[in-house]
Amino acid sequence: MKLFCAVLLLSLGLLGHSAMGEFVRFSGSAFSLKGRPFIPVGFNAHWLGIDEEFEYPSQKRIEEMFQVAEKMSATAIRSHTVGHSSGHTNSLRPLDRELNEKAWPSIDTALAMARKYDVRLIVPLTDNWFLYNGNYGNYCTPYGLPKNSFWTDRRVVDDFKDYITRYLNHVNTQTRVALKDDPYIFLIETGNELGNSGKNADSIPPESWIREISSHIKSVDSNHLVLDGCDASLGQSNNFHIDSVDVYSRHFYSDDIDSLNASATEAGKVGKPLIVGEFDSGASESWLAAMESNPNVKGTLFWHMYGHDDNGNRIRHNDGYTLYYKEESSQPALLRLANHARRIRNLPLLDSLL
Ligand SMILES: *[C@@H]1O[C@H](CO)[C@@H](O)[C@H](O)[C@H]1NC(C)=O
Repeated sequence: MKLFCAVLLLSLGLLGHSAMGEFVRFSGSAFSLKGRPFIPVGFNAHWLGIDEEFEYPSQKRIEEMFQVAEKMSATAIRSHTVGHSSGHTNSLRPLDRELNEKAWPSIDTALAMARKYDVRLIVPLTDNWFLYNGNYGNYCTPYGLPKNSFWTDRRVVDDFKDYITRYLNHVNTQTRVALKDDPYIFLIETGNELGNSGKNADSIPPESWIREISSHIKSVDSNHLVLDGCDASLGQSNNFHIDSVDVYSRHFYSDDIDSLNASATEAGKVGKPLIVGEFDSGASESWLAAMESNPNVKGTLFWHMYGHDDNGNRIRHNDGYTLYYKEESSQPALLRLANHARRIRNLPLLDSLL
């Protein structure tokens, strides 16, 4: 009887857990969370797992971003290095299948802070570009293969799937929750800007790869929505007809309303949401209005936020889009972006942030 009761209580507990809708879902017209609409608005902070000096940010630095999210009325943060880093001794995946245990604490802290501040994270699993956080070519190097063999070489595809399995099964040492069971992850993104062309990046993920990787994510993790990491090439790989993809995104550094509308319309036709995963933090009011007025654009995240070190000094960075919460020069843009978030969320507008 005792055992029966325990089993009954356990099952009720589990049922209660999922019935409460702790994980973000998409209903056909809106994201929802705990039975209420969830509107993902916020910013990118790519460095929460590891920074450009190949150092792990302190808890204070990580926490600052979640405090900023609160001030900015943001509900979501996209962070590349919470999902992956590769190719450097300090990366989560330095070279081969072995993961670097030293890289987990900052990732665990980011998820613990997401929980504390009720913010949801978007985590890309690899990257297209030759930046400090590494890219999918790092999976090809051990086999002496060129970067573009990532999509089709069986050993490389299997290694990437192995990374995904290990990543999702990692148990956060602070929250004791496995990543695959953590409701504070909003979207698992197959990668950042996969298929965009540029220096040493010219191949587009084929449909077979997108199908295999998104299905693999779902086979390990039945909780989270999968975001297709294609950006500029979205649509060229039959993307909109892949069942195991739940969400699409585009990134914008110019007021390209035609592309925004075209992608949002394609996603809408198959009953799936489009989010703007990155846009210029200096965007005009007319661009903000274009995103706000398109009914198929279900969320927006600007590029990007930096912060301060443990002594309160600004972490130097300037790619032309960098904002700092405490800096006077960032305030006009931050107020405009906070009010953009508040308009989307139907909250009263602010006159000042500070
Ligand atoms: C973009 O889509 C929105 C919403 O559907 C529409 O109001 C607007 O006129 C479109 N803009 C262009 C340039 O196509």
